[in-house]
Amino acid sequence: MAALGITIALLVWVATLLLISIWKQIYSSWNLPPGPFALPILGNVLQLDLKDIPKSFTKLAQRFGPVFTLHLGSRRIVVLHGYKAVKEVLLNHKNEFSGRGEIPVFHEYKDKGIVFNNGPTWKDVRRFSLSILRDYGMGKQRNEERIQREAHFLVEELRKTQGQPFDPTFLIGCAPCNVIADILFHRRFDYNDKKCLRLMHLFNENFYLLSTPWVQLYNNFSDYLRYLPGSHRKIMKNLSEIRQYALERAKEHLQSLDSSCPRDVTDCLLVEMEKEKHRQEPIFTMENISVTLADLFFAGTETTSTTLRYGLLILMKYPEIEEKLHEEIDRVIGPTRIPSVKDRLEMPYMDAVVHEIQRFINLLPSNVPHEATKDTMFRGYVIPKGTIVIPTLDSLLYDKQEFPDPEKFKPQHFLNENGKFKYSDYFKPFSAGKRVCVGEGLARMELFLLLSAILQHFNLKSLTDPKDIDLSPVTIGFGSIPPPYKLCVIPRL
Ligand code: HEM
Repeated sequence: MAALGITIALLVWVATLLLISIWKQIYSSWNLPPGPFALPILGNVLQLDLKDIPKSFTKLAQRFGPVFTLHLGSRRIVVLHGYKAVKEVLLNHKNEFSGRGEIPVFHEYKDKGIVFNNGPTWKDVRRFSLSILRDYGMGKQRNEERIQREAHFLVEELRKTQGQPFDPTFLIGCAPCNVIADILFHRRFDYNDKKCLRLMHLFNENFYLLSTPWVQLYNNFSDYLRYLPGSHRKIMKNLSEIRQYALERAKEHLQSLDSSCPRDVTDCLLVEMEKEKHRQEPIFTMENISVTLADLFFAGTETTSTTLRYGLLILMKYPEIEEKLHEEIDRVIGPTRIPSVKDRLEMPYMDAVVHEIQRFINLLPSNVPHEATKDTMFRGYVIPKGTIVIPTLDSLLYDKQEFPDPEKFKPQHFLNENGKFKYSDYFKPFSAGKRVCVGEGLARMELFLLLSAILQHFNLKSLTDPKDIDLSPVTIGFGSIPPPYKLCVIPRL
């Protein structure tokens, strides 16, 4: 009898919980954009392919339109799909959607640094970092010289491979790593430096793990999964090692700091910290500085490095495109002069290829998540404060009208009928608005100069028949991760 009573009580309890959950969902969804019905607790996870969430978003957009709502665990997510909706969110509602949607593996950094900062210090840290990057490293000319110097080292290093096969991940990655390390820490590494290789390994592993199905699941159900073992813990451990490196550099800089003569971004941040010494709630604490430096180091290395690596694989698949690039380089730059930014004006084909690489590889297909900073009226819906907002970038880069045959790699997407470079407003791999990538100018300069320098000196040689090269990413999640490969570079005489 007692057992029956307990069973009934349990059933009533479960039924009440379910009813409350359904009621809460209906109540809070009243004025939200449409979306598939969400199951209690699981939400819409069954409607997502965890191996390719961006593709699931595209399918859902075909059913529910360019603005739709999903529920995953306790997270309410509004997805924007297509040029108009994405631009409207990023540019017409700049402030309302400028928060950073929480990524649970980065929970520890949710109010520090730039990239994952959703706290009150984000605006000041971003503004100040941008201004020092502009004055310091990112001023056009200084960066051009910096990249040109590194291009020279990269070419020398490639020459040392003597036509033998090698994995380009760290060799190529070292160039963007050194460019940003010079801006941040006034430091450059040898291409076989153990510390540099370790840091690049951490960046690379994190970018990969972040894009795996398990971490997609973890990031949406962390309330339930946080105590389990798994690769989310590895990401956190790696991140803490990267942060520790940045902290050590900051401490080292502090010991020899001359406020009147800052050497790099670290010094500028430390000078600000000194100025704020007597403030009650300082922004530029040692902790915030080290996370800011780690953010810039990671974001500034892995993105550009992956783009270059993916780009070389694409060029190996299409030797006729590589051939045209050699022809343009020989005509405009010649065999010895180091490529410069002004060459871009006379090199529409290279410009188009670099754009097409970025479009095609779709590095961050679902952008980095944003968050509504207040209740916001959008296209007749109310998007409550705290809602995660995803302005997808692949929906612009793979727009069928703007880029016919978007699944194909075609430099013509960025060329007009006279062979001149054709601008497209759909080209937004760096996003737009208040959170737009801080390193866009630097990254674009690096891609153009480094790729030009590599092709000026070398022919690419694939180990397999170009036709058999598979360009599909190995995993798609936070990023689109290129397949691992080896290549040979043969000096051009
Ligand atoms: C091919 C290279 C790159 C691509 C495709 C890229 C793309 C992006 C994207 C899509 C975002 C998110 C924007 C948003 O939330 O709306 C972002 C943010 C960011 N990027 Fe980049 N990026 C690249 C290179 C760089 C470089 C070289 C740096 C370093 C100087 C950098 C630093 C940052 C930072 C600090 C943020 C966070 C901005 C914020 O939250 O306010 N990125 N990037």
